[in-house]
Amino acid sequence: MRAVGHLFVALAASEIGRRGLGVRRLIRSARLMATRSKHGKTVDWTTKDLLLGLEEFVPIYETRPIKNNMYGMGFDHSFGLWFITRWLKPDLMIESGAFKGHSTWVLRQAMPNSRIISLTPRHPMKYLKKGPAYVDENCTYFAGNEFLDFGSVEWGTVLKNHGVTDLSRVVVFFDDHQNELKRLKQALKAGFSNLIFEDNYDTGTGDHYSLRQICDQFYIQGGGHSCFEDGDEARVRSVRKKYWEKAVDTLELCGPGESWWGVRGYMRDDFNLTNKPISYTQHFQNSRYVESVLDVYWELPPVAGPSLTHQTRYDPARAPSPIVEDGRFGLFQSVGLSRLETSVFNGYTQMVYVKVSEKN
Ligand SMILES: C[S@@+](CC[C@H](N)C(=O)[O-])C[C@H]1O[C@@H](n2cnc3c(N)ncnc32)[C@H](O)[C@@H]1O
Repeated sequence: MRAVGHLFVALAASEIGRRGLGVRRLIRSARLMATRSKHGKTVDWTTKDLLLGLEEFVPIYETRPIKNNMYGMGFDHSFGLWFITRWLKPDLMIESGAFKGHSTWVLRQAMPNSRIISLTPRHPMKYLKKGPAYVDENCTYFAGNEFLDFGSVEWGTVLKNHGVTDLSRVVVFFDDHQNELKRLKQALKAGFSNLIFEDNYDTGTGDHYSLRQICDQFYIQGGGHSCFEDGDEARVRSVRKKYWEKAVDTLELCGPGESWWGVRGYMRDDFNLTNKPISYTQHFQNSRYVESVLDVYWELPPVAGPSLTHQTRYDPARAPSPIVEDGRFGLFQSVGLSRLETSVFNGYTQMVYVKVSEKN
């Protein structure tokens, strides 16, 4: 399995057929973007492991307490979080951004006996008064009056209180819509190395600066974007925007006279409540910095192709090839995915697992 990666444009034949687009024209503008890590290390798991994991996870997911998790994770990322966590088998799981507690529940399914620390402004208990929510018995909540932002926690003290001495045995999960560069630096400063980012938004989309946006660079194979309005890329992007809600066209990627980075030239933070303009020089430096601390960068593939899931939001051309590829309905059915309602497949945003360490 590739360690890294944005795989731009693994266009499924069925998608092309279904949508009646010119195959040659689209494949010519295909991009393969590979985020670089320090030593080119990879993850241990394979597509076969992911498939076996899917088969095991579907029945677990069917027992979830929060059936409709609007504004929270859908199936793809729930599976990704469960799979990665279960593979890494941490002694402690930390989550930032719990909402009603669905992701806490997923972490608990992955590791039934490990401690969880959850940082979230509103305690999930509050949601219980109005409807389904999940509160974990073996979780320390920094929520409500006790809420602390991840960057303000005295991690040395908290970890000591939880009996954790080996930080490589901790997984930190971010679903708090904060600038991911900020979170990455805070995590490194505290000594954490296994990080999962839920919303790893593509350039031009999302409410916070993401690792994928940072890595979207001309010097990385397949990265960057062209602002040539009569070019192939502009044409393909405008076609794809008609089909996929989250696809972006050149108008959203290019300002007057220059390429935009992040979202319309802004490094967004805190659900887009604060944002700063970002120059190309700064954006470029951010990418070099991220590369210098990355040991592994692995984007979760979508669980299945769009002809199977009927999702219409993310552009499959901007995602890795799905675990169950288009056309493989038998496999889609046998791993149990056909039992799930279509809406659970609409939340994919390139969840990423990174292993990081200080520069060397
Ligand atoms: C998208 S929701 C999380 C969804 C949840 N992980 C799930 O799977 O259902 C984002 C959450 O981040 C919380 N949040 C906002 N600012 C935060 C911060 N600084 N630190 C941690 N959580 C924050 C929000 O209150 C909200 O509960």
